[in-house]
Amino acid sequence: MNKILFATSEAVPYIKTGGLADVVGSLPRFFDKKHYDVRIILPKYRCMDEKFNQDLEFMFNFYIDLNWRTQYVGVFKAEYSGITYYFIDNEYYFNGDKPYNMLHEDVEKFTFFSQAVLEVLPHIGFCPEIIHCNDWQTGMIPVFLRTKFSNDEFYKNIKTIFTIHNLKFQGRYDIETVQDITGLPDDVFTDTKMESYGKANLLKGGSVYSNYVTTVSPTYAKDICTPEGGVGLDGVMLAKGDHLVGIVNGLDYNVYNSKEDKSINYTFDVDSLEEKVKNKLLLQRQLGLEERKEAFMVAVVSRMTDQKGFDIIDYGLDELINSLDIQFVFLGTGEKRYEDMLRYYQGKYPGKVCAYIGYSESIAHKFFAAADAFLMPSLFEPCGLSQIMAMRYGTVPIVRETGGLVDTVEPFNEYENKGTGFTFANYSPFELMDAVRYAEEVYHNRKEQWKDIMIRDMEKDFSWTSSAKEYEKLYNRLLNLY
Ligand code: ADP
Ligand code: GLC
Repeated sequence: MNKILFATSEAVPYIKTGGLADVVGSLPRFFDKKHYDVRIILPKYRCMDEKFNQDLEFMFNFYIDLNWRTQYVGVFKAEYSGITYYFIDNEYYFNGDKPYNMLHEDVEKFTFFSQAVLEVLPHIGFCPEIIHCNDWQTGMIPVFLRTKFSNDEFYKNIKTIFTIHNLKFQGRYDIETVQDITGLPDDVFTDTKMESYGKANLLKGGSVYSNYVTTVSPTYAKDICTPEGGVGLDGVMLAKGDHLVGIVNGLDYNVYNSKEDKSINYTFDVDSLEEKVKNKLLLQRQLGLEERKEAFMVAVVSRMTDQKGFDIIDYGLDELINSLDIQFVFLGTGEKRYEDMLRYYQGKYPGKVCAYIGYSESIAHKFFAAADAFLMPSLFEPCGLSQIMAMRYGTVPIVRETGGLVDTVEPFNEYENKGTGFTFANYSPFELMDAVRYAEEVYHNRKEQWKDIMIRDMEKDFSWTSSAKEYEKLYNRLLNLY
């Protein structure tokens, strides 16, 4: 039995701010249970839903030294959907009202977490052959393993994979502070190791010191090797050579299932698409939009940041609303400027635009089920799960051709009646408007072709089955490496 430990700062169902939680909380369930024992370790945040906090079983506690600091480590455990989750408890670090806060706090908090993960291993009766790390918050795990812990027999054979879910967030902080937290010597903070543009960079450390780097789609794996997509680390990514691998994310088909979804009022499948329309009419009523089934409803469910393309939405929205029979429904939270912008459009176009500023899984499912199209005009996108979720509900994606959006959405070809969505190449409001206009035209005037796209979307296989196999292959390659 091969033992793998996923280290992460978030995982469903316990704590989620974005797609990272969906991926880490679902992927471990899809490995071949005869050969892989996959477990997850994450912080025990105070802000986790109380119903989850109550169910955790206390295992033991001890203290670790983070350079001159001595810190408490509590270890809790839970079983969920056949997977063992371990939790690291420390009220000083994990008591905030959300998982992430100011960077200077987060750098220390996740360095503590990374060291604690390694130090609990001898005591939990589970010594992984591979630690599968995720994003900069776990970047110090490979670094510590090959420095502080490298002479310890227990840790000698542990291999690491470092998965980048978003290269934009790197955990960069001044070297002096990171050295003070970690107690690591000067030679770890050089340009071939953790140093980057004069700072200590935890994501770079994780990438350099791990055996393999993966990212969440093949196209993003290429994007991050270019100056445009590399966020300053394209050289580091290029240098990984064939030790940088892109594996596209999957989806938990039990959670996103239009036929059995408990969050939606009218369940449906490819043979009962007329039920989908009832979800739209109901949502229009609930959101105070014009109740017309002909209106082309476009949904956006997203963190409201510049990554997700709100600038070009801003530029194009007036013209689209004034020239088409269209409605926009937005669900999300994030930067105030975008929240305010969407409130403004809601006020300006009552009955046509709804801005639901908030975070709600069940409303997200209602949006996926009700809308005709799903807009995701990202500036960059490592993979993107929302467009895949939308497709599961026959909601046709309109996306920019970047990263994982390229790998998951095939452009509609009206001559051959092929494709799963509408795409545009450049980050331009004009191209966005053209793509939305084209989609609206097909929706209103070529109903049979639109229906075919919906059916292709719903029948496309985005389950974890094939991507989990790719990870298994990588694990096997790593396990044979001595
Ligand atoms: P990212 O991780 O960059 O935010 P993804 O598309 O990979 O983008 O994943 C986003 C996840 O968060 C999806 O599960 C999406 O449905 C969910 N999500 C984003 N905003 C909200 C919201 N306001 N309410 C509910 N779910 C949301
Ligand atoms: C990040 C990316 C998103 C990806 C998710 C899960 O949040 O922004 O594109 O789908 O991680 O890997």
